[in-house]
Amino acid sequence: MINCDLLVKKAYEGRANAYTPYSNFKVGAAVLTEDDTIYTGCNIENASYGATNCAERTAIFKAISEGHQKIKAIAIVGVENDYTYPCGICRQVIVEFATKDIKIILGKSPTEYIVKTMDEILPGAFTKEDLKK
Ligand code: THU
Repeated sequence: MINCDLLVKKAYEGRANAYTPYSNFKVGAAVLTEDDTIYTGCNIENASYGATNCAERTAIFKAISEGHQKIKAIAIVGVENDYTYPCGICRQVIVEFATKDIKIILGKSPTEYIVKTMDEILPGAFTKEDLKK
């Protein structure tokens, strides 16, 4: 059973480290790997704006670089009292490493969240399977 409450809490812990001097829009993420390891992430901005890294990708890249290539859940928290959905680039990165039934957990407070499927947030995804056709 996936502990969504814990993942949302971890995403907020990640958010606390967000480096956002330009937008002041803080985002946090927490990914749960197949073997139940949790990696947190935050957005990391840059004076050269395009070099900014989103919270989701920070968390995912931490997991990948530590040898965990399958992600069964990701929690994302951003703006207060509303849901922050992952950007298009992050959706593409999530699907690359997602298990078939990945849970996309969107938190709007430490105790309120909704859960989405991959297909709901990225229908018709282009994946490695398409490269085999
Ligand atoms: N941001 C994320 O971290 N994740 C998203 O999915 C949406 C956007 C960040 C990037 C930038 O630091 C700030 O939010 C404003 O775009």
